[in-house]
This record gives sequence, structure tokens and C-alpha cells, in this order.
Amino acid sequence: MPSALPPSRFPHRHLLGIEGLTAGEITHLMDRAESFVAQNQAADKKSGSLRGRTIINLFFESSTRTRTSFELAGKRLGGDVINMSVEYSAMKKGETLIDTAMTLNAMNPDVLCVRHPESGAVKLLSDKVNCAVVNAGDGTHEHPTQALLDALTIRRRKGRLQGLVVAICGDVLHSRVARSNIALLNTMGARVRVVAPRTLLPAAIERLGVAVFHDMRAGLADADIVMMLRLQNERMSGSFVPSVREYFHFFGLDYAKLAVAKADALIMHPGPMNRGVEIDSEVADDIDRSLIRQQVEMGVAVRMACLEVLAENLAGRNEAA
Ligand code: NCD
Repeated sequence: MPSALPPSRFPHRHLLGIEGLTAGEITHLMDRAESFVAQNQAADKKSGSLRGRTIINLFFESSTRTRTSFELAGKRLGGDVINMSVEYSAMKKGETLIDTAMTLNAMNPDVLCVRHPESGAVKLLSDKVNCAVVNAGDGTHEHPTQALLDALTIRRRKGRLQGLVVAICGDVLHSRVARSNIALLNTMGARVRVVAPRTLLPAAIERLGVAVFHDMRAGLADADIVMMLRLQNERMSGSFVPSVREYFHFFGLDYAKLAVAKADALIMHPGPMNRGVEIDSEVADDIDRSLIRQQVEMGVAVRMACLEVLAENLAGRNEAA
């Protein structure tokens, strides 16, 4: 018998990346997240669409905000959330990953939210389990919920993404946030620039559909959004910048460099920030121009939306079966 359920507006079993999603699917997740913003500001923050569901946060890499955000998202929708941090060592990588996944799979979770230091590891894991998987960041590859929360934050302030000039600045080479944001913003019709020293850009980055700049004043000219990235020292082998002082001088965001962007340009950073390295403290804390606090707030709403659609799809599969 054909299922009576309407087709899902997010017809995917997992959320592994932004790459491959349509503008309609991205918009659907943002719209649904928007519907949770008020709930997250109310005194009673709890509703029940994930009641009875088990969500496991499986983090092979340390994280504060992303893990907390997924945990709150699951709990606010009434699900049971378990956090697991697994110490990762390259020595036992493949084995640890698959063994852990199979063990957890045997406990019948509904959604696994997974962070792993190796690009591609979350996809590998998703092939082995029966539940839905959300990529909470894999190596330098993708971090889809970060791009979605960034997009929702921008859309709430600017009313749209289409046509906006977004400058992504700093350590693009090591950044899964940059990759997911480039994919999302291009799909939604924004104009994306990357601004970084040559040492911090991947080869042939322009193939991703971005304009490349090596000078902040050129790259920030007339930008609507200035998105700063952390210098990700833990992912660097060797020296990528001469010194922190020099890096801040040329690539750190301060009011002097921001002056060339649009008068109403807004500042973003996925966190954690290195104040005085990629961003001046005063700029980061500027309540009129910095969206950093709102990004964290939208993170919970976006993760609620993602968990809810994936759980609905699981229910659809069970009924159709
Ligand atoms: C980012 C990450 O882990 O990729 N942080 C985050 O999720 N908020 C960015 C970073 O580590 O610099």
C-alpha cells in the first residue's frame, strides 16, 4: 500500500552536508527553525515532537557550543539525549569509529549527531547504522548546521540571502564552516568572497564559485556580511602565518578595515573566537553590528528543525514499511 503521508520537504535520511541540498530544502529547514525561535525565548521551552526518541551526541573532537546546542535542541523537543565523548587517536581511528557506531546502533537510537576530526568519517558511519545521522562537523569538510544557523541569522536581519555580498575571511583552508557556508550561500544566490593570505586558502578555491581576495580592504569593499574565521592552529602542521601580530595587522577585523564595507554591514564569527588574532574585541562585542550572540541563539532553533525533520522521515519510513 502506498504511504498516505505527504512527501517530505526534506527527503533525506541524514544531514551530512549542505552540498547536494536544494534551495527549497534549505529554505524549509530555515522556516522550520524560525518557528522554534519564540519557543526558545519563552519561559516554558519544551514541546513534544521528539517524545520517545533517543538522540545520541557522539563527539570524537572537543566542542562546547555545538554539543550543548544539539543537547538543548533534543531536550526542548522532548527527546532523550545522551552525550558521548570519545577520545580520538589516529592509531585506532577506523576501528574506534565503526566499533563505537555499531555498539550505539544496537541500542536503537533515532538520531546520532556526530563530530569527528577526519573528513568523510561521519558519512562512513552513516552507512553502517539504521538511524538518522547529523554531521556536527567532520574534519575540514562540512558543518551543515553551522551554515544553516548562519543563514537563518542573516535572513532574520537582512530579510534575504539572495544578492547579498558575503566576505568569508581568515583560515578558509582548515574550515568546514567555510565550506558549508560557501555551498549554502551560493545555492541561495548570495555573492561569496573569500579573503585570506595565500597560505590559508585551498588550491583552486575559485572553483567553488567564490571571488578570491588577499587584501582585507579590497575583499570587504561594499560587503553586506563580514564572516570571520578562527585561525585553527590545531589543524595546522607547520607554520601558516608569520606571527599573530602580523596576522592581526593584515587580516584581523578592526573598525578601520570594516569602514570599507557597507555602512550597515554585519559581523559574524562561528566561535570560538581568538580576540586580537582574527577579530578585535571591540568589534566582536559591538551590539549594533555583531551577530555573534544571535548565531549561538539560532543554533538551537536550527538543530531543533534538523532533528525534527529527520525524526519525521524515520516515522514515514516505519509507516511505509
Ligand atoms: C567551528 C568548528 O568546530 O568547526 N566551531 C563551531 O562549531 N562553532 C569553528 C572553529 O572551530 O573554529
